[in-house]
Amino acid sequence: MSPAPPRPFQLAASGPLLGEVTVPGDKSISHRAVMFASLAVGESRIEGLLEGEDVLATAAAMRAMGADIARDDAGVWRIHGVGVGGLLQPERALEMGNSGTSTRLLMGLVASHAITATFVGDASLSRRPMARVAEPLRRMGANIAASPGDTLPLMVRGLCPAVPIEYRLPVASAQVKSAVLLAGLNTPGITRVIERVPTRDHSERMLRGFGAELTVEPGPDGTVISIRGEAELRPQDVIVPGDPSSAAFWAVAALIVPGSDLLIRNVLLNPTRAGVYEALRMMGGDIAVQDEREVGGERVGDLRVRNSALTGIEVPPDLAPSMIDEYPALFVAAAFAHGVTVARGAHELRVKESDRVAAMAAALAAAGVATTEHDDGLTVQGSGGEPLPGGGRVATRLDHRIAMSMAVAGLHVRRPLAIDDAAPIATSYPGFLDTMARLGLAPTWLNA
Ligand code: S3P
Repeated sequence: MSPAPPRPFQLAASGPLLGEVTVPGDKSISHRAVMFASLAVGESRIEGLLEGEDVLATAAAMRAMGADIARDDAGVWRIHGVGVGGLLQPERALEMGNSGTSTRLLMGLVASHAITATFVGDASLSRRPMARVAEPLRRMGANIAASPGDTLPLMVRGLCPAVPIEYRLPVASAQVKSAVLLAGLNTPGITRVIERVPTRDHSERMLRGFGAELTVEPGPDGTVISIRGEAELRPQDVIVPGDPSSAAFWAVAALIVPGSDLLIRNVLLNPTRAGVYEALRMMGGDIAVQDEREVGGERVGDLRVRNSALTGIEVPPDLAPSMIDEYPALFVAAAFAHGVTVARGAHELRVKESDRVAAMAAALAAAGVATTEHDDGLTVQGSGGEPLPGGGRVATRLDHRIAMSMAVAGLHVRRPLAIDDAAPIATSYPGFLDTMARLGLAPTWLNA
């Protein structure tokens, strides 16, 4: 994929955020819905699928491996799968774009099929570590040839039948857990993953929903997740709830902009994803859940968020796995708090779409905020609710969450804050700037 030209923009300091917003479908659930439907025999229907670039990369890859995937005019996706074991040899390299989730989960799928696939990605993805998935998949018998440092481009030659393993996760990673479980789908016998620290559980819930024999039990070293292969998946109708990671940008925006009172509709409330809301409440954020209900087997609700005087906190490290994608947004909230916020115990931030500790330290510096970097986190000096000085230009580093977090910071600044590129936003939230515009906060486009 040739990189898109950068699209710099800035937002003006804004009046209150009022009314309501609806966030797009959850990214993690969307990836899995496309993958599992592509492995079921018969037609699955998916409503509310996130149509961001990352999920479209997954859909394109599943098509390239034989699934029949179409979107109807009403926005419902209809997928006819190939059956577990039925993936076809892709003719060309699979273009993963910016998407770590697509890459790591699909590596797992390919590992136990008799096919070979090459994975390529953008500059950000090509720097990210793949050893964490390559290692267990090699134990299962896959042959994986990666670029130096176990990075992309890499090639997976699957083994069929693969060898079931019992694997203790060395990092708290839902992607590694899922890669092994997905390899287990087409592996005869029981594949086990032992998870010491709970991470998002969408693979477990959804695989069960698609009819896989999967159990989750407590064990002496953590939760034991066992899947029996070779599984048969049955087609499902999936309704994808709104993404709590996308909702976090609006929650922080409403908390920091004076006078705001915003309703964020249809947000997934799965506890493995809700850490940021806990942290924001600890800071004094007024976030109320309304109309809590169940949609497609998941709890969802509407979040009413009102402007609040925030106070700096020590972010509990044990919240890290349930808010790993939300630290950039949390750091922006911290920049407006009274006092200092200290976030430690989040090493994984260093290996996301960018090094999010370094990227946010630099981004906040461009907005006039003092920070201190740690190996495993960031300390942020708050403004006590005052607008930030602003005036600088944020480097997004091909990272959608840096772009959106800092766009939010730019809503309460003395001098405009430029963001060097809007393009990465489309990986997870293509309508983000349109929703800003609908709230009366249209971006101004700048020269590259
Ligand atoms: C994801 C898991 C997380 C998260 C990513 C999506 C998933 O990554 O950061 O955005 O859908 O499984 P890790 O599992 O590497 O922490």
